[in-house]
Amino acid sequence: MEIKKITVLGAGLMGHGIAQVAAQIGKYDVTMRDIEQRFIDNGINMIRTSLQKFVSKGQITETEMNETLARIHTTLDLKQAVSNADLIIEAVPENIELKKTTFREVDVYVPKHAIIASNTSSVSITELASATKRPEKVAGMHFFNPPQLMKLIEIIKGAKTSDETIQTIQEVAQKMEKETVLVKKDTPGFIVNRILIPALNEAVALLWEDIATKEDIDKAIKLGLNWPMGPLMLLDYIGADTTLAIAEVLQHELDEKFHPHPGLKQMVKANLLGRKTGKGFYDWTQK
Ligand code: CAA
Repeated sequence: MEIKKITVLGAGLMGHGIAQVAAQIGKYDVTMRDIEQRFIDNGINMIRTSLQKFVSKGQITETEMNETLARIHTTLDLKQAVSNADLIIEAVPENIELKKTTFREVDVYVPKHAIIASNTSSVSITELASATKRPEKVAGMHFFNPPQLMKLIEIIKGAKTSDETIQTIQEVAQKMEKETVLVKKDTPGFIVNRILIPALNEAVALLWEDIATKEDIDKAIKLGLNWPMGPLMLLDYIGADTTLAIAEVLQHELDEKFHPHPGLKQMVKANLLGRKTGKGFYDWTQK
């Protein structure tokens, strides 16, 4: 099936980036939907800032920037957002009930042929698919932050996802110039987060046990494993709340060994979430 129109639900950290990649690289006609105008305005501003960076580095022209922006439409109305779409990419906050409600509503308004994908990092694709009457047309399409720069998309097959749906999503990812991996079974954390989240959790444990300073923990992993940034800084980028939410899903759905460290829980209780609240392990208010 050929995808022409893509709707992204959510204009936040991931949603705006996905909408931008779809319009800029994939050259798709994109609609970005959120529930309040201020969220949409913020998303469009982030897209503009990102495009400006590419222009100032000579990676795209001013004309290409304007053409990309012209391909992105916005709306607050869910029905209007999805009723013409061939592919929906859901990127609403990581809350299972909210995602299920969204899938249930979207299923009513989207055309019969349309595919509904979720950018979730931890919610079961099979469970989201069950909220619709088209489970064979539901799959996971997991981008990484920042979607504009990160090459990977994990594609996740739910219990009833058809091979045709997977193939269509692979083609879309290719048009977006992304690399893909196929997660053959719908399992918590998929591939990346099942490995990443325990690593981040251990970095918190090392800090709490006062084994090393946060700077040295990050330096060790940066230089010892060639990560682009250390685990505590990455945790600040992802957000302590998101990291905790994923850890809890891994713990409850997979194995007790994934239990989040008390230190991570305390960061969340103290609202030290990272970049989004200005403070996490590091102070982001000056940057
Ligand atoms: N759009 C355009 N440009 C951007 C941008 C964006 N959204 N974000 C950053 N840039 C720019 C930066 O401003 C910077 O520009 P300057 O050189 O002019 O300062 C440029 O990109 C390069 O950035 P950096 O110099 O900081 O670093 P880099 O080139 O090595 O790579 C990076 C940037 C790819 C983001 C790198 O820092 C990195 O790989 N970080 C780790 C990211 C990561 O692990 N993401 C996964 C998180 S986990 C996840 O997303 C899944 C989940 O479910 C939790």
